Amino acid sequence: MKKFLALLLTLALMLGTLAACGGGGGGEESSDGGGEGGVQVGIVLPTKDEPRWLQDEASFTTALESAGFTSEVMFSQGSTATELSNVESLVEKGVKVLVICAQDGAAAGAAVQAAKDAGVTVVCYDRLITGTDAVDYYVTFDSFGVGKAQGQYLIDKYAGKKDVPLYLFSGAKTDNNAFIFFSGAWSVLNKAVADGQFKIQNCDAIADYVGKELDADKDHDALSKVLGTIDTNWDFNTAKTLAEAALQSGEKGDVAILAPNDGTARAIADAFSADNAVTSYAVTGQDAELASLKYIQDDKQSMTVWKNTATLAKTTCDMVSEILGGGTPKTDATYNNQKKDVPSIQAEIVVVDKAKLEELVKNGDFSQDDIDNAK
Ligand code: BGC
Repeated sequence: MKKFLALLLTLALMLGTLAACGGGGGGEESSDGGGEGGVQVGIVLPTKDEPRWLQDEASFTTALESAGFTSEVMFSQGSTATELSNVESLVEKGVKVLVICAQDGAAAGAAVQAAKDAGVTVVCYDRLITGTDAVDYYVTFDSFGVGKAQGQYLIDKYAGKKDVPLYLFSGAKTDNNAFIFFSGAWSVLNKAVADGQFKIQNCDAIADYVGKELDADKDHDALSKVLGTIDTNWDFNTAKTLAEAALQSGEKGDVAILAPNDGTARAIADAFSADNAVTSYAVTGQDAELASLKYIQDDKQSMTVWKNTATLAKTTCDMVSEILGGGTPKTDATYNNQKKDVPSIQAEIVVVDKAKLEELVKNGDFSQDDIDNAK
């Protein structure tokens, strides 16, 4: 009887493992040595200094471990050179699949080429690596949708108003996503500016594109010029300095602020709330970092876009499973990386304002304690 129960338990565990990762062909590899004695999946993330990427690390570890894959996560800490040596060391450890979120999308070509030369399948994660054909797949969120939701939030917030001062800030120009986010936001804001709802305060370079959309691929050069004047480099201090500089000459009162992500949103919000001539502000964000959920709760940040890293890690895990099993992963989109159309999977996003946050906390998606204790 005991033996029978043990057998049942083993079967249940095996089924659970397969279900955790879509039941792909790689699931049967041993979890303590990667089938051939090495690490099966190498994951390279850009930095430990932003909570967003620590969320990804945790989600990957859970998803891949429970699917029975051996994996190792390495951080590039803002350096393309470290990124390259991380990839080289993972290749030496025998990884079959490299999942990489590049520090700098154009400079990561050498790293993925090294992996490709060693026969490794390369999956770009969240950020597309550009200008190389050494990438096989791309798993991402709907980045255009993120930007569009940010722009639409500001439009709805100031519905019926005229000449609302609008401040624009972007993500790092070295990150292809920054182009897509901005393009998404501008796809709705351009009309609102043309209709007189908003008056842009800190970005002369966008003047030629009022009433026109800017496509992240086709209008890359134009966008590059625009982003060049409002680039936070995804860095809190740069964001704060840019915000303070913009406030020197910008109109105040009730203002709208397009901030690209949560870290920069909090820095920019701090600068705006320190200015007595700013009577109120609406500021966007993304990532649902706990510190920003706290800001939203305290009315210091208006919204964020939750990109559930558990969903993305699970999607990637399913893809890894297919690849290791010798199959071809299913994809639902393509992204052009200036060298090829990369087969991609795009995960859904969730827009979170104060009311939605209350709902998510009630649902158990976020814990009130975690939010209250966020730094
Ligand atoms: C990611 C964002 C993140 C930003 C800064 C982007 O590529 O998509 O979620 O906030 O990088 O790290």
